[in-house]
Amino acid sequence: MSEKIRILVVDDIAETRENLAKLIGFESDMTIVGSADGGQQAVEFAKRDKPDVILMDINMPDMDGITATEIIANTVPESPVIMMSVQDEQDYLRRSMLAGAREFLVKPFSADELVNAIRHVHEIEKVKRARYQQAAPAPQPTGGGGAGGQSLRQVLEPERGKIITFFSPKGGVGRTTIATNLAVALHQSTGKPVCLVDGSLPFGDIAVILNMSPKAKTIADLVGAFDQVDAEVLETVLVSHSTGIKVLLAPPTPEAAELITGANIKKILETLRESYAYVVVDTWPSFQEQVLTMLDVADVILTLMTLEITSLKNVRVFMEIAEKLGYDDQKVQLVANRNDSSGGIKASDVEASLGRKIPHTIVSDGRALVLAVNRGVPFVISHRESQVAKDIFTLADKLSGAGEATGAATATPQKAAPKQGLRLFGAR
Ligand SMILES: Nc1ncnc2c1ncn2[C@@H]1O[C@H](COP(=O)(O)OP(=O)(O)OP(=O)(O)O)[C@@H](O)[C@H]1O
Ligand SMILES: [Mg+2]
Repeated sequence: MSEKIRILVVDDIAETRENLAKLIGFESDMTIVGSADGGQQAVEFAKRDKPDVILMDINMPDMDGITATEIIANTVPESPVIMMSVQDEQDYLRRSMLAGAREFLVKPFSADELVNAIRHVHEIEKVKRARYQQAAPAPQPTGGGGAGGQSLRQVLEPERGKIITFFSPKGGVGRTTIATNLAVALHQSTGKPVCLVDGSLPFGDIAVILNMSPKAKTIADLVGAFDQVDAEVLETVLVSHSTGIKVLLAPPTPEAAELITGANIKKILETLRESYAYVVVDTWPSFQEQVLTMLDVADVILTLMTLEITSLKNVRVFMEIAEKLGYDDQKVQLVANRNDSSGGIKASDVEASLGRKIPHTIVSDGRALVLAVNRGVPFVISHRESQVAKDIFTLADKLSGAGEATGAATATPQKAAPKQGLRLFGAR
């Protein structure tokens, strides 16, 4: 029998605590291990008993839920907090996510919403712990070589192109737009060969953005022939774009995408980097094997986010997972897209909350983007003088090492991260 999810309920109103206990009492995989009527008591309980999930009210007399969450997130990070708040407390919600809450529930919520949220944060925590246990004792891959071993590798290995994977745990934040324009900008500013890979296998739309023929070859044309894939075979399915870059398009249907495995993706990307100086990969928000491979083989993962609370929440979870996967700060770099669009939170708040810098920002410019898409021309070409294009060129310079010196210009050796199918966002 699997272990029950141990829950701590924190609310100053006894009736609410009882109601929550009743709802949770119906679930055979959950148990309440304690209840607290204030933040102070909650912190003490969390430190002592490390519950699997904490349900936390915001407004409480002694120590409020936000302060308690902040302390718990820092001292007992293995006990994720779900914040509960009433409808019009938008500001509280924002502050609680910044304090480190993993999920929020708006009162009144249904029993389903409650138990789903509990299972969701618990599931993520479990995956993190499992990954951590696997990753922690692993020795450094450059056995005994240390720094000397690395430089020797660099000398002996032929020059490999850099794989830049765009990821975001949330959809619609601009991955495809920015990946496409970055690929073109890298080619324009370095003059080197660039291949753009539409790794958003089930939902690829680069063909549309770049106005390509519906009859163009795609990665699906390789199905059945992955064993023979080499640089030459790959060239036959790459499509040339008028901007000078090559593109590997996504399959025409989601069903065809299922025929492509993580191992296939690895082979394709490793082969492409032999001929292309930059391989820019678009993805989709998922932790399926194919996406995990695109993340693992990447030299740099540009994690795109918008400065909104929902985006922050998802990025926080991804950052924790990335850490357990052994990806360092050079490998995972944050990019704030639509940086100046209203209704968001400040970049400095996000940096403080995530405890890491946002090294790259891209402004919002809907007009340039719409005009560019209508013409089927990337905006770094059609609106080269716009601020949004300049921001992309700055990003390209940083990645190619042409701009300010940045560690991003050096390929980071990969750690041997284990790769089982993680399904966090896909399994809904
Ligand atoms: N910097 C920006 N300024 C203005 N609009 C932007 C910017 N970046 C992206 N957009 C717009 O946001 C929308 C979503 O962009 P895009 O399709 O590239 O996102 P995505 O993350 O790839 O989405 P999906 O999850 O659907 O794949 C598009 O309409 C795009 O034009
Ligand atoms: Mg997309």
